[in-house]
Amino acid sequence: MENFFDFSKLKGYELEKLIDLASSYKSGKIKDQPLKNKNIGLLFNVPSTRTRISFQTAIKHLGGEPLTYSAHELQLANKESMKDTATVMGKYLDGLVVRWYNMNDYGYGRNTLEEIAYNSNLPVINALDDKDHPCQIMADILTLKEKYGQNYKKKKVLFTWGYAERKKSPGCTHSMLTAASLLGMDLRIAHPKGFELDEQYLSFAKQTAKESGANLEFSNDLDEAIEDVDVVYAKAWGSLSLPGYEEQRYKNEIRDNWLVNHERFDRANQDAYFINPLPIIRGDEAIAEIIDGPRSLMYNTAENRLHVQKATLASIYSKEKILQKN
Ligand code: CP
Repeated sequence: MENFFDFSKLKGYELEKLIDLASSYKSGKIKDQPLKNKNIGLLFNVPSTRTRISFQTAIKHLGGEPLTYSAHELQLANKESMKDTATVMGKYLDGLVVRWYNMNDYGYGRNTLEEIAYNSNLPVINALDDKDHPCQIMADILTLKEKYGQNYKKKKVLFTWGYAERKKSPGCTHSMLTAASLLGMDLRIAHPKGFELDEQYLSFAKQTAKESGANLEFSNDLDEAIEDVDVVYAKAWGSLSLPGYEEQRYKNEIRDNWLVNHERFDRANQDAYFINPLPIIRGDEAIAEIIDGPRSLMYNTAENRLHVQKATLASIYSKEKILQKN
């Protein structure tokens, strides 16, 4: 069994190879079908557009059959245990793609992924949990490589993050931090005070950066942090928040200080790109003119999700084994 929960078990060159494999699928250089006669379950307990559809399509393109379930459609909704659910899934399927975000009624993110992998004895791919969103970040890095070539490592990437859904949602930020440290990128993370990242991720990244040459910076002030950057990656502040929750109030208080508007975007380099993983609400993370403007790479990175999903699946199911055992 090989799982893909995060980047922490990968070497920098392995992650790079995985992203290049995605590029080869995109260009048509690789057309293999390592999922022939394989049934891959997609289990999601929160909504998804890009991750769900890109995995479904990727599985089809690789010759397999995607079988998608929402948690509430299964007997989990009637309090069947995850142990029983996963054990039974293991009898039918060849692998699982799981999005498991914190929800009290169904368990907690990464712990649940581990429980599913253990009991199903299937390879499990993380489609977003409470700690990481690796497939999103690989797509983002592929997008940067397409724009800058290998020079992407020398470009300063600003990454802002905050609330999504009803919880702090550091998944993309943790994955970007880990990836940047492995690949030797130049990354600046900006967030309001109180949004500190998981200490385990910070210490891993700082240690890894010493070996890779990555430059990692941290800031609590967007106006300073955006100065002279090449890429502005504005992660969700509240696009997924549900009205009535405390986050909505918080979002309104901090939005003015963290909105990417013309004034702030002008402080970045003249040809800086804007990037966001979607979903986005115009006027929350950034203004519509920037989101829909000529320097936005938002749809490029959404498109790249498909190719990254293929590379991730192929690295588990084909002879091109890149991912190590978790
Ligand atoms: N970026 C992302 O993961 O999108 P979805 O939530 O729609 O899958």
